[in-house]
Amino acid sequence: MLISGAKLLQKAHNGGYAVGAFNFNNMEIAQAIFEAADKNSSPIIVQCSEGAIKYAGADMLYAIVKTLSDKYPHIPVALNLDHGTSFESCVYAIRHGFTSVMIDASHHSFEENLAITKEVVKVAHAADVGVEAELGRLMGIEDNIVVEGKNASLVDPDEAQKFVKESGVDYLAPAIGTSHGAFKFKGEPKLEFELLKEVKKRAGIPLVLHGASSIPDDVRASFENTGGDLKGSKGVPANFLELAIKGGINKVNTDTDLRIAFMAQVRKVVKEQPSEIDPRNYFKPARAAVVAMLTERMKVLGSAGKI
Ligand code: G3H
Ligand code: 13P
Ligand code: ZN
Repeated sequence: MLISGAKLLQKAHNGGYAVGAFNFNNMEIAQAIFEAADKNSSPIIVQCSEGAIKYAGADMLYAIVKTLSDKYPHIPVALNLDHGTSFESCVYAIRHGFTSVMIDASHHSFEENLAITKEVVKVAHAADVGVEAELGRLMGIEDNIVVEGKNASLVDPDEAQKFVKESGVDYLAPAIGTSHGAFKFKGEPKLEFELLKEVKKRAGIPLVLHGASSIPDDVRASFENTGGDLKGSKGVPANFLELAIKGGINKVNTDTDLRIAFMAQVRKVVKEQPSEIDPRNYFKPARAAVVAMLTERMKVLGSAGKI
């Protein structure tokens, strides 16, 4: 059943587990997410970036999710706009049936971020839609705080407390050292778990980890075995995800792992069956690989068995 992200994540916050928020741009990956949720009795969040909306259309993406949620009515699911960059973008998603929106104004000043988020909260809550905001800035590999010793981009717990109180936001993404994509750490992985715990204490609401892909060894191997190049890539180890959940994370954003798992199988068919022309014979094993990867992930997150 398609429900508000706030409702879904409040339950995870109360139960001390996390729900995966998995990005999709097409039917096959959406099917894989629902199939994994069904197999593992797990609630899910499916999410689309503005780029996904540009690629497939908000109406198409909504229709895919609505069709799948009708097929699996026992699965609690929220459809989230990932990294909405403006008030207008969030309203557009709400109008298209999204049940959760992220307003990512973290590149603005604190005051501006607060003002935009407040506006989004006002319209979203009127439509029973949950709202996520971000504080601090996600790292890129070049300004990895651990390596460079910079902490200007990390979340500030005082600001988090004030932000949550004044904005009315339902869940918050604090920057604690992760980054998007397959190249997250130059050296050993390191996240700011103490800072996370402090933010959780002060904010008292569900927290979100962006850039949470792990790049599991078997998934990496399946990509590299077909000649794919992931040299230098490093994800968030599974035990870090568990620690982050203990520290208060309830929504774990994952896109890169799905992309790698999916594309590894497409690459395999390209390599091994050069005369294959039926797209279904590329996408069927790719979809199955995403289900297998998500099955492992749902166990790590503690969302398996929570329906
Ligand atoms: O947060 C970023 C997500 O991985 C979505 O990426 O903008 O390429 O769709 P995208
Ligand atoms: P990954 O690139 O680590 O999968 O992160 C995705 C994400 O944070 C989407 O918002
Ligand atoms: Zn993100």
